[in-house]
Amino acid sequence: TVLVVDNGAQYAQLIARRVREANVYSEVVPHSLSAEEILAREPAALILSGGPSSVYAEGAPSLDPALLEAGIPVLGLCYGFQAIAQALGGTVAETGAREYGSTRLEAIGSTSVLFAGQDVDQVVWMSHADSVTEAPAGFSVTARTPGAPVAAFESPEKKVYGVQWHPEVGHSERGQEVLRNFLHHGAGLKDTWTTSSVIEEQVALIKEQIGEHRAICGLSGGVDSAVAAALVQRAVGDQLTCVYVNHGLMRQDESEEIEKAFGASSGGARLIMVDAEDVFLTALAGVTDPEAKRKIIGEKFIRTFEKAQADIIEESRHDPQAKDVRFLVQGTLYPDVVESGGGEGTANIKSHHNVGGLPEDIEFELVEPLRALFKDEVRAVGSELGLPDEIVWRQPFPGPGLGIRIIGEVTRERLDLLRQADAIVRAELTAAGLDRHIWQCPVVLLADVRSVGVQGDGRTYGHPVVLRPVTSEDAMTADWAQLPYDLLSRISNRITNEVDGVNRVVLDVTSKPPGTIEWE
Ligand code: XMP
Repeated sequence: TVLVVDNGAQYAQLIARRVREANVYSEVVPHSLSAEEILAREPAALILSGGPSSVYAEGAPSLDPALLEAGIPVLGLCYGFQAIAQALGGTVAETGAREYGSTRLEAIGSTSVLFAGQDVDQVVWMSHADSVTEAPAGFSVTARTPGAPVAAFESPEKKVYGVQWHPEVGHSERGQEVLRNFLHHGAGLKDTWTTSSVIEEQVALIKEQIGEHRAICGLSGGVDSAVAAALVQRAVGDQLTCVYVNHGLMRQDESEEIEKAFGASSGGARLIMVDAEDVFLTALAGVTDPEAKRKIIGEKFIRTFEKAQADIIEESRHDPQAKDVRFLVQGTLYPDVVESGGGEGTANIKSHHNVGGLPEDIEFELVEPLRALFKDEVRAVGSELGLPDEIVWRQPFPGPGLGIRIIGEVTRERLDLLRQADAIVRAELTAAGLDRHIWQCPVVLLADVRSVGVQGDGRTYGHPVVLRPVTSEDAMTADWAQLPYDLLSRISNRITNEVDGVNRVVLDVTSKPPGTIEWE
């Protein structure tokens, strides 16, 4: 494992992702760990991330020289680079000269491990205030920039390397090669982290964890739960029961796709499809307030899922052959783990024993086979496990589904109308090859708005639908996606011609903030 020591960087997770893209497993650890704790994890190499602007700042993460003397290959980036310089007797100066954004490197000397096979003269992305003005004794300086007299140094004997810029960000044109050079040549690591190795390892772990017992997995239609289920299915086959709640707020063909991937014909897990459309639509009748809708849908969802769960447990209680249902599969991803403090081990959650007639003594243990993975890795695993592209590459879809994309009361007719419009938009985006370029494109039905139109020589008085295409990294912020005009015009023509009751298509050109991605 390559440990990325997070010095409070915006980029620590990104560094770990890039290392994994170089086929070496990597995890993020906080800088608050002691050198002993870090070394106890026997890392194959360390990468010290960027962080606060100055090594002189009060409370700035300090670097224990023990980490540099343990014989483990170390790469310092930005702040990590300056911390190495300071720890080993180089000079870090508060020059006041800042460098932000693209900068060109200039070569010093001619041999370098980090720059092997490439021209040092390259564009890199900088973000620093202080600068290293003198490398520690025994280090060779290999590059400089106008604002950084020492922009990279290395000591292959000590196995310590550092660069002032951020090789992990896409704006550094050869950043990934620099990281690769460190991992492969500086640290002598081999390509071991591949999609098939991840699957093999996870399948073995799941087998060991679940043993002869049984597990339940709720499928939401999203990629995470689907891939988690597929992994567990690969490991323990029909010891897994998947539960899919159709709340009637799904997109077109969604239930069929789930059935196809996980149903009887998939030859693996048991799939229970709970048809709860009536329950949800009855509960939503007359409701227009967005928060009220969300509350009702969330509440009904939990109750429905718990009921299905209780049924499965009950059924196996009465069957002497059946193994107990002890595990609950969840699609937790690595970013969630890091954000919640990086805690290790599996949590035990107690099922709610006040509902659904669950026996009081039932406790689930969690199976979280995606805990170590980033979203792009999850998609790669899903593809390799044979899940169809429609599932692996689907856009994020909110739990409350189309219920929060109908502005106004949610009714069956309106859902059908929105499903048709949404299916057209998705089909056209796919045909244009844009699925992987946008984050998502909600289609919103303004059910309480009507406007006058003309179609086939007659007056119409129909509803508008809104297209909300956005680009985003993580949905926290987003920008409206600039879809090609010919695509927009095709979508508009098709919707107004094919969807009865919609006579206008409008485009939402608001970023987030101030708008959210969904309209409710
Ligand atoms: P907003 O509208 O808050 O959406 O900008 C951000 C992202 O989250 C999705 N979203 C949800 N996902 N349950 C979910 O699982 C929800 O209740 C929910 N609400 C919004 C939304 O689609 C977007 O990707």
